[in-house]
Amino acid sequence: MLCLQADTNAGWIEAASRNIIALLCDHAHCERKAAMNGMYLIMHYPQHDTLVREMITLVEEETAHFKMVVGELYGRGISLRPDRGNVYAKRLAEQVRKQDPERLMDSLLVDCLIEARSCERFTILAGCEDIPEDIRGMYHSLMSSEEGHYLTFVDLAKLYFPHATVEARLGELATVEASIVRSLTNMPQMHG
Ligand SMILES: [Fe+2]
Ligand SMILES: [Fe+2]
Repeated sequence: MLCLQADTNAGWIEAASRNIIALLCDHAHCERKAAMNGMYLIMHYPQHDTLVREMITLVEEETAHFKMVVGELYGRGISLRPDRGNVYAKRLAEQVRKQDPERLMDSLLVDCLIEARSCERFTILAGCEDIPEDIRGMYHSLMSSEEGHYLTFVDLAKLYFPHATVEARLGELATVEASIVRSLTNMPQMHG
């Protein structure tokens, strides 16, 4: 799917569907961090008008997703739990080069891969019959939004960098992403 080079491990959906509250808590934090990441990009690259405009929209959407997932928890009488961290995103972030302009391109492409993986996993969750129907409906509604975010990040990378350079770097990072995904231990986390 999309630019991904590996499918999610078969064991992940079992772990996720058996621990739906843990999954929702982790998912809520993923949405919160996606919104924060949009603000982070605005803070670091205020000179790029299109990036700023696109990230303002993204922050609004990710904040709405955060509110929606927290609402699912509250509807079940459960408070948001502390963030347990995200090994997947942390290992991907290590791939971002430290100096601009490479830092900007890598940041956009890592974000693009995270959105693509989220979209793939939402698709799996939406089709899992072991998950309550209302939660499956929520995941279904999020699929197209995350696919849109994936396209936003690719398009921004191609706006600021040559297409061939972007395609080549996206391929490299997708290979790393695939090896990270294969090494995951099937935790009830959105990227576990
Ligand atoms: Fe989101
Ligand atoms: Fe997103």
